[in-house]
Amino acid sequence: MDNRPIGVFDSGLGGLTVVKALKELLPNESIVYFGDTARLPYGIKSKDLVEQYSKQITKFLIKKDAKIIVVACNTATAMALNRLKKDFKNVPIIGVIEPGSKQAISKTSRGKIGVIGTIATIKSKAYEISIKNKDKNVDIISKACPLFVPFVEEGLTNGDAINQVAKHYLSSFKNKVDTLILGCTHYPLLKSVISKITKQITLIDSASVVATDAHKKLQYHKLLNQGVQKGTLHCYVTDLPMRFEELGNIFLGEEIKHLHLVNDF
Ligand code: DGL
Repeated sequence: MDNRPIGVFDSGLGGLTVVKALKELLPNESIVYFGDTARLPYGIKSKDLVEQYSKQITKFLIKKDAKIIVVACNTATAMALNRLKKDFKNVPIIGVIEPGSKQAISKTSRGKIGVIGTIATIKSKAYEISIKNKDKNVDIISKACPLFVPFVEEGLTNGDAINQVAKHYLSSFKNKVDTLILGCTHYPLLKSVISKITKQITLIDSASVVATDAHKKLQYHKLLNQGVQKGTLHCYVTDLPMRFEELGNIFLGEEIKHLHLVNDF
């Protein structure tokens, strides 16, 4: 039995969608979450900077005794996961791209997969590389959807405006792909808007697939907490921006109880 926490990080609060999925799947695991709210968004930053931030946060989570690190941010996974795996060999580290790609390959019926994400994630081609490494016959169409993040953060997850934006980004996927990876922490909240446009296309929610992957990794490394007590969630952030609580609720689906501001970062 290992009651140390799972460490999860993201550029901001969006990664709480992954925490929500982890809490549902592994309710007795404790979680330490780090949201880099002072320095977000990562989706438009350079690889060097995202690597530097991700290393700093991983060190922080290891100091908090994390038994595994989950990089909940698609952008940080795309740009920094390889570096983190090289630099922190003593702790298992997982990202969102491998599990999302695997799931998409297992679901695709015609070998036509679409990927949506931030500009940085799409430019990095990380999903394409990961999918092609597993099956080179799959065709991939990728598109950056930068307006989705601010819409979700405004709480505009339904209504005319977001429907128009979704139509603008996603119409071109119709009849071209059979599976679409929601490659950003914020997109699971837009599932119903997205599916109105994409209709029959299977949506891959990176939050729930990464929770399943974390479970498998914990099992493999014999790190699961076998206790019956409910786990705790501690959230560390680098800034407390306006509408923090509202946003926390949007992503986590409940109030954040143990909140800590990190000011020596
Ligand atoms: N968390 C980021 C991601 O999943 C989206 C927000 C950002 O750009 O920082 O790609």
